[in-house]
Amino acid sequence: MSKDIIRIFDTTLRDGEQSPGASMNVEEKVQIALQLQKLGVDIIEAGFAAASPGDFEAIERISEVVDKSVVCSLARALEKDIKAAGESIKKAKHQRIHTFIATSPIHMKYKLRMEPQEVIKRAVEAVKYAKTFTDDVEFSCEDAGRSEMSFLKEILDEVIKAGATTLNIPDTVGYRFPQEMEAMIRELKEFVGDRAILSVHCHNDLGLAVANSLASVLAGARQVECTINGLGERAGNAALEEVVMAIKVRKDIFKNMDTNINTKEIYPTSKLVSNITGIIPQPNKAIVGKNAFAHESGIHQDGVLKHQETYEIMRAEDIGLDKNAIVLGKHSGRHAFKKKIEDLGYSLSEEEINEAFMKFKELADKKKEIFDDDIRALVADEIVKIPQVYELVRMQLNDCTGGVPSAAVTIRYQDKEITDAAIGDGTIDAIFKTIDRISGIRGLLKDYRVNAVTQGKDALAKVVVKVVFEEEKPAVMGHGLSIDTMLASARAYISALNSYLSMKEGLGKINPQRDSI
Ligand code: KIV
Ligand code: ZN
Repeated sequence: MSKDIIRIFDTTLRDGEQSPGASMNVEEKVQIALQLQKLGVDIIEAGFAAASPGDFEAIERISEVVDKSVVCSLARALEKDIKAAGESIKKAKHQRIHTFIATSPIHMKYKLRMEPQEVIKRAVEAVKYAKTFTDDVEFSCEDAGRSEMSFLKEILDEVIKAGATTLNIPDTVGYRFPQEMEAMIRELKEFVGDRAILSVHCHNDLGLAVANSLASVLAGARQVECTINGLGERAGNAALEEVVMAIKVRKDIFKNMDTNINTKEIYPTSKLVSNITGIIPQPNKAIVGKNAFAHESGIHQDGVLKHQETYEIMRAEDIGLDKNAIVLGKHSGRHAFKKKIEDLGYSLSEEEINEAFMKFKELADKKKEIFDDDIRALVADEIVKIPQVYELVRMQLNDCTGGVPSAAVTIRYQDKEITDAAIGDGTIDAIFKTIDRISGIRGLLKDYRVNAVTQGKDALAKVVVKVVFEEEKPAVMGHGLSIDTMLASARAYISALNSYLSMKEGLGKINPQRDSI
């Protein structure tokens, strides 16, 4: 019997990017899209084309390079949005436009200020217009979770007649319980039949996004919208890795059902996304958290050693996690490094490989064992293509034990080396103040995070900062990587500064002046 395939629609690049602090530049989005394709995602929601020129460009670039997965562009039910969406996916081999309008009484009354019949009319016009660009049109009833069943049926009936091929039922505010979600999807599945594919899109405000998605699959949904690491607006969306592994592990419940996901690519994809966004899954996060396959207690360790299935329902290898793989060392050459990068799923230009290789050599001099995660972190750092207006040359720090913390920093700017020094409330504050003095631009630090990329005293530190450089301007993110946390902090701050300047000059690809959904 042929498998009943549950389509996986990944919205990491759209809803996921709506996570606070998760904005990505064009290059980063392209790398993630290529990895999502490798993971076997059926549909990649590449962005919201009308939101900003940066979003449009990212979707266009992804359309050029992704040829197996469907590339989807989001649009409100507005002519200008749909036009932008249609144009952004023009070069994609498989194209989809996803248009939506709110259907709950509260959204229609207060947000849209529209009568229900006007909403239906707008939805029908939107689907018909989207059909002039592509046959594959998805329609979403925003806030379906709080919409009336009779109205949902009425609007869905009309958009099917207008040509919608996928009907998405979002629980936009994460309000539903699994039993309610299951009942709603069962009734809608009966109503829609085979006229279109039923999809769900669940948010995690009550921690039920995955449970609601799985309940919907059991009730007849054949597309699940989700994100890597569960990123997304507010508490996030259903986590792709959890939905997929639940369907795989519980074959007794999801009889004959399957996904097209190559689960061995789950861990590499999760790592790529966390390296790029700087948002690391909580350690106890299911499937991809640092502790997901760690057995701490002696009883558990003993049990697993005697028979793996005593305490494990799936194997680390199933998600592509090889915990102990030491990959390269100080003597590894460029050839081995390049091969490793390819094995890890990156496609870098020769120039990018050379730069990453130089950083690898620097690291290999200081660090005995280099793991896949180190290489992933190095490459993620390399693909942040922001013009290096300022570049860190060297730094000298004064011990703050009992004294006044101070930093002397030398930065290259337009081929000139500029050195300055400042004192601060701590060493990191002193570094950031010195950089401010050199650039003449004062930054306000909004967030500072440091994570060890791997284990051990010689682990690489990855620092992510969020800085506002001008009041009323949106915050920008910066990433820095080094075995030395202070150096990683300085690099992160300078990368935020460069990112801010590239946006200001219109050089960069990130455009925070987004039209919001
Ligand atoms: O949560 C939501 O309703 C959405 C729609 C745009 C599908 O993200
Ligand atoms: Zn959403």
